[in-house]
Amino acid sequence: MTTLFDPLVVGDITVPNRVFMAPLTRMRSTQPGNIPNAMMAQYYVQRASAGLIILEATQVSQQGQGYPSTPGIHSDAQVEGWKIVTDAVHKAGGRMFLQLWHVGRISHTSHQPDGGLPVAPSAIAPDGKVFTADWKQVPYETPRALETSELPGIVEQFRKGAENAKAAGFDGVEVHGANGYLLDQFLQDGVNKRHDNYGGSIENRARLLLEVVDAVVGVWGRGRVGVRLSPYASFNGMSESDPKALFTYVLKELSKRGIAYAHVIEPRASGASDSVNVDVPVAFDELRGVFSGVYLSAGGYNVQNAPEAVEQGYVDAVAFGRLFIANPDLPKRLQLHAGLNPYDRSSFYGGTEKGYIDYPFMDKAA
Ligand SMILES: Cc1cc2nc3c(=O)[nH]c(=O)nc-3n(C[C@H](O)[C@H](O)[C@H](O)COP(=O)(O)O)c2cc1C
Repeated sequence: MTTLFDPLVVGDITVPNRVFMAPLTRMRSTQPGNIPNAMMAQYYVQRASAGLIILEATQVSQQGQGYPSTPGIHSDAQVEGWKIVTDAVHKAGGRMFLQLWHVGRISHTSHQPDGGLPVAPSAIAPDGKVFTADWKQVPYETPRALETSELPGIVEQFRKGAENAKAAGFDGVEVHGANGYLLDQFLQDGVNKRHDNYGGSIENRARLLLEVVDAVVGVWGRGRVGVRLSPYASFNGMSESDPKALFTYVLKELSKRGIAYAHVIEPRASGASDSVNVDVPVAFDELRGVFSGVYLSAGGYNVQNAPEAVEQGYVDAVAFGRLFIANPDLPKRLQLHAGLNPYDRSSFYGGTEKGYIDYPFMDKAA
C-alpha cells in the first residue's frame, strides 16, 4: 500500500514524501520593491521536509499584484532576493516550485504601475473589498476588460516570470490557474463575458491558461511545470455554469501536455475561513480520472483524511496549507501521529516574525 510517506516521481524530480506545502500568501516581502528576504528564507527552510514546497503566489508583473507586500518575480532585485531563499532551502535539503501569479481584477489602482484600473476578461467588479497598497480596505473598482491584442503580453509576463524563476534557482514553477485570479477569471463563465477567441466556448475560455502553460513549458520543460485549479469554488466571486465540463476539458488538455502535476483544490475548504463546505462535489471523484499524471489535492486535509486519500489511491499527494503554517515539521508530526500546533489566523497576512517563523518544532513543543 502506498502511504503519504512514500517517495513520488513528480515530472523530472523525485520527492521523498507526499506531504506537500500548499502555496500560502504571507505578505512579508521587503518594501519598496516586493523583494524576498532572509526572514522568508528562514520560514521556508523550517518547512524543507515537505515533499515539495509550492511557494506563495508571486506576481509576474506589477499589473499582476493585488495585495500589499506580496513578492514579485519581475525585477532583478526580486530574482536576487529569491536566490537567498532557494540557496537556503536547497542547503536544507528541500525542493521548491514557485507559484506564478497574475491577480487580474483582484487588485486596486494603487497597485497598478500607471495608476490605471486593474485588468480582467470583462469589466465586472467583484463584490467585497480589496487591500490598497497602504493596507486600507476599500470596495473593488470595476476593472478594465483586456483587449485581445493585449493577451500575448499577458502570456509574455508569465513566460518572463518563468525565466526569472529559473534564474532564481527554483526547481520548477506552478501556474496559478485557481482561486479567482486572472487565469481562473478567463476560465469561468460567471466572470468571462468576452466575444473574442478567449470567451464563449469552453475551448475559448481555456485558451489563455493553455497558452500560458505552453509558454512556461517552453522555458522549463513539461517535467518542471504544475498547474493549480479550483473547480466548484466561489472564492473571489467566481461562478461557472458547467464546472464538470470545463475542468474535464482543462485537465484533458493538461494531460496531453504531460506536465509534472495537476494541483486541484477541493471546494470544501478555500482556507479563507475556518468553515468546511459539505454541500459541494468531491473534486477528485469527478476529475481524478481525466488527468493521467500526478494528481495533487489540497483543501481541508487533516490527520485522518490525508493518509486515507493517498492509501486508497484517490490522489497521489496532498498539499497542506494552514497546518503547514503552524507546523514547520508537519511530515514528521503526521508520520508519528504527534499533536499539531494550532494556527493563529490574525498573523496570516503581513506582520513580523510572530506567527511566521516562531511556531515550535515537535521536539520543542510543549
Ligand atoms: C493564509 C493563506 C494564504 C493563501 N495563499 C495562497 C496562495 O498564495 N496561492 C494559492 O493558490 N492558494 C493560497 N491559499 C490557499 C491554500 O493554498 C489552500 O488551498 C487552502 O488553505 C486550503 O488548504 P488547507 O485546508 O490545508 O489550509 C492560501 C490560504 C491561506 C490560509
